[in-house]
Amino acid sequence: MSFNALKEKGMPLEKQLRNWHQIVAEPYKKQKVDCYTRTRQILMNGIEVEGWGFKHQFNRFMSNIDTCDREIISKLGRIENQQQMTCNWLSPADQSVLETTLAYEQVAVDLTAWLAQNEKDKYVKETFDFGLLEDFDHLYRYAQFACMSEGLKPDDIVQEQTDVIIGRPTQYHHNCNALRLRHHYDKNTAEPQTKVNILTVLSGEQQTHNFYAEHGFMYANHVLRETYAEIKDVEEEHVTMYESLIDPTESMFEKALLHEFTEVCNYYTCVEDETDENMKKYWEIFFEMELTHLQLIAEMFKKYEKRDPEEVIGSEIVIPCRFKSQKVYVQKVLEKEVNKRLAPEGEYYKTIEEIPSDWASYPVQERVAEISAPSENCIKLIRFYKDRDVVAASEILKNKEVSLLEKGLQKHATAHNTVMPDELQEMIDLNEERESDKEKII
Ligand SMILES: [Fe+2]
Ligand SMILES: [Fe+2]
Ligand SMILES: [Fe+2]
Ligand SMILES: [Fe+2]
Repeated sequence: MSFNALKEKGMPLEKQLRNWHQIVAEPYKKQKVDCYTRTRQILMNGIEVEGWGFKHQFNRFMSNIDTCDREIISKLGRIENQQQMTCNWLSPADQSVLETTLAYEQVAVDLTAWLAQNEKDKYVKETFDFGLLEDFDHLYRYAQFACMSEGLKPDDIVQEQTDVIIGRPTQYHHNCNALRLRHHYDKNTAEPQTKVNILTVLSGEQQTHNFYAEHGFMYANHVLRETYAEIKDVEEEHVTMYESLIDPTESMFEKALLHEFTEVCNYYTCVEDETDENMKKYWEIFFEMELTHLQLIAEMFKKYEKRDPEEVIGSEIVIPCRFKSQKVYVQKVLEKEVNKRLAPEGEYYKTIEEIPSDWASYPVQERVAEISAPSENCIKLIRFYKDRDVVAASEILKNKEVSLLEKGLQKHATAHNTVMPDELQEMIDLNEERESDKEKII
């Protein structure tokens, strides 16, 4: 069905201000929530944080606009702020930081995998595939701590929808910043879908970074604190990578239009996909609000830029996030691309064998892990708890774990505490032996 967001009826701005009782909604039950209801709630929080922050940047940078329009922008910022509180605080108080962390990485994996399959620009698609395997490995590293600290199984959170196993090892996600900068799209030729896809994943990654920044210190375990620090730093690189895909010559009004359009498209998808009736009510209300935000910005765009908003966002809604299991796609990318590394802007990605000996990321990786890589220490530690690493995947994929590790390892800049393939194999064998012993006893 065709849906032009510029022409549909929204909720008048004067009706959008809500009271505290409405803003602070009743949280979902962590024991009952569907994992994809939770991923939608996490993503929409990230989208609202970006929508709120952008309006403040807009008001700080834009001097030549009428007072009445500046007032509208500041009112919209207030509404984004209220929506953000509702979205984020739908999380229950008894959901631990590590539980929420696993859910954040599930968002990253399943969202990026969906985007990659719905992205026509080949270079942008390859960038999504590249980032995907990094968040996939974060999920695996955090799953070790979730087991050690809180006795959690990964499926308690990901509900068998997302595999949890080694990916491109986190110690190799640290790069020279110059290499993280990607080639940007051309604002005049890029599809609205590409623009919305990038802004969606960027908002998610930014909020993941913020969440780790503000919660990683809440655990006493020093190795876990270091792992949060390490992965937070990778999320910083992900923000750098995804934002560099955006054409920097877009005007602030063009960006404002894309921000509201991204909100509209995401809530539209949430309404379509949501199975939890309570959550759906919020998505429906916020969707109506966003239609008005978009239309108000569209009027300003016409007034100040004398252009048709459809030149930027088209005349059709786009779908940026269908949360569903992406195991088959992710496994395919994992097996093929675990050995990929960053090449300079404008070039496609390279394999470990293809990168030069003076690759700019080697010194960065050597420096940050000169004592040890926390993300490797977590695998060393889990051995004392249960013989081997925590994995949640099919037997076929599990049997490939050692070869995946082998393929992802670099000859250079590998931390001295790295779990090497023979050590991982030993852990797996020991675990198998003990499991069969247990069978004998019982
Ligand atoms: Fe919003
Ligand atoms: Fe991540
Ligand atoms: Fe990430
Ligand atoms: Fe908005």
